[in-house]
Amino acid sequence: AARIFSGMQPTSDSLHLGNHLGALTQWVALQDDHDAIYCVVDLHALTVAPDPAVLRDRTRRTAAQYLAAGVDPQRSILFVQSHVSAHAELAWLLNCITGFGEAGRMTQFKDKSLKLGAEGTTVGLFTYPVLMAADILLYDTDLVPVGEDQRQHLELTRDLAQRLNSRFGAGTVVVPDAHIVKATAKIFDLQEPTAKMSKSAASPNGLIELLDDPKVVARRIRSAVTDTEREIRYDPVAKPGVSNLLTIYSALTDRSLPSLEAEYDGRGYGDLKKDLAEVVVAFLTPFQERVHGYLDDPATLDAVLSDGAERAEALAQDTLARLYDRFGLLRRV
Ligand code: TYM
Repeated sequence: AARIFSGMQPTSDSLHLGNHLGALTQWVALQDDHDAIYCVVDLHALTVAPDPAVLRDRTRRTAAQYLAAGVDPQRSILFVQSHVSAHAELAWLLNCITGFGEAGRMTQFKDKSLKLGAEGTTVGLFTYPVLMAADILLYDTDLVPVGEDQRQHLELTRDLAQRLNSRFGAGTVVVPDAHIVKATAKIFDLQEPTAKMSKSAASPNGLIELLDDPKVVARRIRSAVTDTEREIRYDPVAKPGVSNLLTIYSALTDRSLPSLEAEYDGRGYGDLKKDLAEVVVAFLTPFQERVHGYLDDPATLDAVLSDGAERAEALAQDTLARLYDRFGLLRRV
């Protein structure tokens, strides 16, 4: 079966609806007929200098949300990035074949470093996408399910994979493909529906966090920005706010956009928002119960992660040894 790899950063207490619909939903669906590996990328989270105790807590919380969403550790490997040292080790090799200009062209780096200034920007933030490439290449990954904002990082990963293959011989590593599901690849901010939903949003009212109080979530949906027309139809250019609500509605209910448009034909935005608020709360309530179940039993959660790390490590060590060899590092006897 094709190998899947993906990860999320534990940079917030809660994942948001964009993470869920853009990535996590795909992860759960893909594990049925793929060989899937899902990672909590805590080393990546160090690029924002988190408080140590907070990072540790968020790492468990992120894993608990993967499980609550349906990642099944019997079928898939679920682990924490820093538990497998090969990630940091392969990242060094890849740093040595990545151009400085090439890394400097990453738009996420440019945006973030612009905000932080030269002194606030770390070298870790600069090489962040190289560590991501290491995550992916370590497992001979075929497909990487992510949202639209990761497309450029996946292109860099492919370029590095092709470079390894041309330098050290065809088949040195697998060249991965991005798996980006168009309908939900970019969920937008409820208050600013032309910007992606993100934890660093300008206003918290634009964000739906999976662990938010359902009452707050319902209020945020009811006050989502729409437009001055009345018609409920999917048209992301002319009607970004309404289209985003329809996207979320469709993804959470598995109903098609045309069937939603037909149902709301002649009805007002208030009706749509009220119904969508109910749909989202009906999803979040049992989800939150499951998350709290996992968090109430950290020993069991840690055991799941430990088992995952063991399985991931065996695969990763194999690839790392192969690459150390190709790069010409002397084998230890
Ligand atoms: P992160 O933690 O920022 O986001 C996790 C996943 O959520 C997706 N996503 C969205 N999808 C749709 N709409 C949105 N508004 C939205 N916001 C976020 C992201 O595209 C991502 O799939 N660099 C990665 C983490 C990473 C990784 C990896 C991913 C590290 N190593 C290896 C895949 C493979 C990141 O920052 O994701």
